[in-house]
Amino acid sequence: MMSKMYCHAVYQKVAQLHCEQIDQGFLATLGPSFLTLLYEAIDKDKSSVLIAKEVDGKVIGFVCGTVSLHSIYKQLLYRPFSLFIALTSCFFSISKLSKIFEIFFIGKNNPILKGLPRHELLTIVVHPSHQGQGHAEDLFSCLCNHFNDANIMNFKIVVGLDLARAHAFYIKMGCKVAGEMQVHKGMHSLVYVKQCS
Ligand SMILES: CC(C)(COP(=O)(O)OP(=O)(O)OC[C@H]1O[C@@H](n2cnc3c(N)ncnc32)[C@H](O)[C@@H]1OP(=O)(O)O)[C@@H](O)C(=O)NCCC(=O)NCCS
Repeated sequence: MMSKMYCHAVYQKVAQLHCEQIDQGFLATLGPSFLTLLYEAIDKDKSSVLIAKEVDGKVIGFVCGTVSLHSIYKQLLYRPFSLFIALTSCFFSISKLSKIFEIFFIGKNNPILKGLPRHELLTIVVHPSHQGQGHAEDLFSCLCNHFNDANIMNFKIVVGLDLARAHAFYIKMGCKVAGEMQVHKGMHSLVYVKQCS
């Protein structure tokens, strides 16, 4: 498993994996340039973690987690010019702007999240050519160990209903369903909680 801090090429590869493997999600529609900045911000943010997995010198998967989405947004704002360029296409899309707004206020507006762990697994992806080989389990365990080392007892995961394989994976990893929510209007997700120890 690779260690912090990563280089630009790793952020690009992680962004590409996200775009290709979670292509129905809203974040993928913001494009690889934005996602590259986002994963750099997650890696650099002190309350977040990015763990990438390499096989034969190539990044084949990653997992990331955080305790504070707002802290990631703040980190993104340290690169205002790059952020502006990466999001230029969104300025002409009311639908994209409103979804960005929905994401920003998700924590405040969703009662289901109240009372659930503050820590969160944000995304996990393994390239299809390496799925079913234990890499996702390794990445998941690394994130659990990271949270354990910081005395974090549990964390949540918000998973789109259509991601069938991801649901099977989280259930296999001992995650329990804690509720259902809509991150965006009409887009349902299940919320899981995982006990770290
Ligand atoms: C989620 C992900 C990281 C899991 O990695 P993986 O290597 O596929 O994990 P596993 O091989 O352990 O598969 C998990 C389970 O899915 C099941 N599965 C396989 N194909 C499936 C399918 N088409 N539909 C539903 N379940 C399926 C398997 O039975 C497996 O459980 P088992 O090992 O007990 O048989 C990977 O599938 C992935 O990157 N998916 C796309 C991105 C994504 O949805 N990420 C989650 C965002 S929150």
